[in-house]
Amino acid sequence: MPNHVKDAPEPCVLVIYGASGDLTARKLIPALYQLDQQGRLPEQLCVLGLARTEMSDQEWREHLQPWVQRHAEGFDPNHWAWFAGRLHYLAGSATDADLYPVLIARINDLAREHRMHRTGDVSGASPWVAQPNILFYLAVAPELISPIVQRIGEAGIIAEGKRWCAVDPASVPWQRIIVEKPIGHDLASGEEINRAIGRVFEEEAVYRIDHYLGKELVQNLMVMRFANTIFEPLWNNQYVDHIQVTAAESVGVGKRAANYYDRAGATRDMIQSHLLQVMALAAMEPPPSYDATAIRREKIKLLDSVRVIRPADAMKHGVLGRYGPSQDAYDTDGGAGYADLPGVDPELGTETYSALRLFIDSWRWAGVPFYIRSGKKMARKLTEVVVQFKRPPAHFFRDIEPFRSGGVRPANRIVINIQPDEGVSLRFEAKVPGPSLRIESVKADFDYGYVFSAKPLEAYGPLMLDAMRGDQTLFKHRDELSCAWRIVDPFITSGPLKRGIHTYGPGTWGPEASDRLLAEMGHVWHNPAVQEKR
Ligand code: BG6
Repeated sequence: MPNHVKDAPEPCVLVIYGASGDLTARKLIPALYQLDQQGRLPEQLCVLGLARTEMSDQEWREHLQPWVQRHAEGFDPNHWAWFAGRLHYLAGSATDADLYPVLIARINDLAREHRMHRTGDVSGASPWVAQPNILFYLAVAPELISPIVQRIGEAGIIAEGKRWCAVDPASVPWQRIIVEKPIGHDLASGEEINRAIGRVFEEEAVYRIDHYLGKELVQNLMVMRFANTIFEPLWNNQYVDHIQVTAAESVGVGKRAANYYDRAGATRDMIQSHLLQVMALAAMEPPPSYDATAIRREKIKLLDSVRVIRPADAMKHGVLGRYGPSQDAYDTDGGAGYADLPGVDPELGTETYSALRLFIDSWRWAGVPFYIRSGKKMARKLTEVVVQFKRPPAHFFRDIEPFRSGGVRPANRIVINIQPDEGVSLRFEAKVPGPSLRIESVKADFDYGYVFSAKPLEAYGPLMLDAMRGDQTLFKHRDELSCAWRIVDPFITSGPLKRGIHTYGPGTWGPEASDRLLAEMGHVWHNPAVQEKR
């Protein structure tokens, strides 16, 4: 048993809906195991997995063990034996009202078993004996979110006297909910789900998770911008030419095509969720303080000022693609093009690549294009933000090579590499040593792993810990969701854009049409060579 650190959150029963699913096995349980190994979890915390598949506690633990071994660094069989004792399982249909008395009884039992008793009944009509804190984690399909939340509400699980209204908040158990993306498939359905959640949970108890916000370098965007004075004066339309946000993956969609991806596509799956968040952090105004309300307010303001185009203009500002067949012997889809994967409906025209050009109608960003792209089976895995600065206004060196012969210069930019080589690089022009004046672009690198000698943690662990602590800083407010859907809706509903979908070669940087999208304004994608360490 680990020594538990002092700032561990209060104990709770973590109820995971979708417990037999991929996310639970691949991310959530390995992340919890790692937190536990580091002594960051409260000693009494326990997990109750909930799914339809019939399994005992022991069978669930046995199902999870190989996943934890594969995905959690430093797996220790002795520690696993201790940690597995915290894992419990309940089989049932989460949308079935009859399950809830059973669920409540089970949570009560677990609270006793793991010594989580609280005293005092908040409403007088509560079904609780033990009244533990409860954190619900909905790792389920979006269509299940509203019915499940409704059942939780009807079952009387949510205490009447809200914690933040109580005289002594620590005496009142809390009930919080973590909701996975996608929340809806467009603006209308996203808002409907948020309304359903809002009928049961206060916004302060809702944790809309986005694992990108748990990535070190995404958080570092804020530190870099607001803990220094050297960047912020340049961070505007007077100096910035354009900004690129890229999330490229080298793997294909594989088995996820049938049960999820074919109804989502790259714009919903990556841009609406993760990349607009990254863009918001890269472009928002400085918040007055580092707290959830202040930061979320600035992100909402920023997303709200992104120009919403008319669907008829989607073709002008967006390019969609899907990867074709591959000859690569190690191809993750066995060589199949996206359209030929099992479960794909070619009629849906789902994109595995999406590139959008957005504009932010604010004084700071007027006229600066933001290019956001994401794709599967691209040249390499890479997530980055590129801030490209303008050329000097009076071009002092125009008669010096290489400026004299023209051409695109890669100088004058900051690249914030979110993954996999976490770091920041600054490219600028320098004089090549020698008697004559020659100029070359050089790069100054800050390598996160090297400087801090630490591998960034898997994002899910720290985010779950934040939810247990009641810190919403790295979670999305419902208004951020609505703004993000409003921005992408014209692109996902445009028939011509879907019909004009391009096929691109696996292992490339996507369709050529997306190069033309940038060329229209004299810009070029930052496509680092496969082996280039930027
Ligand atoms: C998920 C998407 O949210 O993020 C996946 O649904 C994608 O399609 C994944 O592969 C990428 O996450 P990461 O952390 O590997 O960049």
